[in-house]
Amino acid sequence: MKNIWITGASSGIGRALALKFANEGWQVAASARREDLLNEISELNKNISPFPLDVTNKEKCKEIFEQIKNKYQSIDICFFSTGTWDPKKEKDIDIDQMKNVMEVNFFGTLNCIKVVEKYFKEKNSGHISIVSSVAGYRGLPNSTGYGASKAALNNLAESLYFDFGRHNVRVSLVSPGFIKTPMTDKNEFRMPFLKTSEFAADKIYNGLVNGSSFEIDFPKELTLILKLLKILPNRLYFYLIKKLTKLQKL
Ligand SMILES: NC(=O)c1ccc[n+]([C@@H]2O[C@H](COP(=O)([O-])OP(=O)(O)OC[C@H]3O[C@@H](n4cnc5c(N)ncnc54)[C@H](OP(=O)(O)O)[C@@H]3O)[C@@H](O)[C@H]2O)c1
Repeated sequence: MKNIWITGASSGIGRALALKFANEGWQVAASARREDLLNEISELNKNISPFPLDVTNKEKCKEIFEQIKNKYQSIDICFFSTGTWDPKKEKDIDIDQMKNVMEVNFFGTLNCIKVVEKYFKEKNSGHISIVSSVAGYRGLPNSTGYGASKAALNNLAESLYFDFGRHNVRVSLVSPGFIKTPMTDKNEFRMPFLKTSEFAADKIYNGLVNGSSFEIDFPKELTLILKLLKILPNRLYFYLIKKLTKLQKL
């Protein structure tokens, strides 16, 4: 029997992934703040157990991971998918908003990584997967807090790849393109190559269980273009993004 801890499991990508792993026979510890939604997915599949948690609460992260260890004895994968994005507040420099985004997206993820660090390093095996975004590759218009929080996660994941690697613990980075979830339902612009959360869950499951690469990115139609943009010189990058976003009326 294999066990996974998923945060952000009440909705969107995390929820779809919890159901995917549970349907594949894994035991899933599902965390997020909305307990009613966690209970709902655990009703759908008995392999899922709710562990309500606000990831910005460091002490609670510790407490919940202790409960998860007590229940399952062994944890194979930790998948940290919590995130927040409010497009309306990203257009200006709103310091309080940016602090909140960093608190959830970056420090919330870091709180979870910290509480599993000792466990995995002592076990000398395991896997920590961090959900970032293609929005973290380079600066984009109207993304003052979200992009910065994801860029910070990208750098953190690379750094942890080395540190945990010395203890035989795999660190992976998940970079989704546009996935239809409550988060992106708020977007008023056209989202190219938009996919379902079930599509995302299949790609992630495959990358986590059958793959061994550091980055799990999808859909390739979008991520290949963005990876190319990522390595362009600044002048060309800024020119192309201005053109593309004008077409998108951003
Ligand atoms: N959808 C996309 O196109 C897309 C693209 C790139 C990256 N991503 C990333 O993918 C991840 C999942 O996003 P999604 O699209 O699935 O969005 P979503 O449906 O809004 O899910 C976000 C999840 O994070 C949880 N969460 C938020 N704040 C939390 C907190 N303080 N403590 C615990 N849980 C918290 C939410 O649960 P509660 O509200 O119940 O706490 C929810 O389960 C995010 O990191 C997002 O940045 C998404």
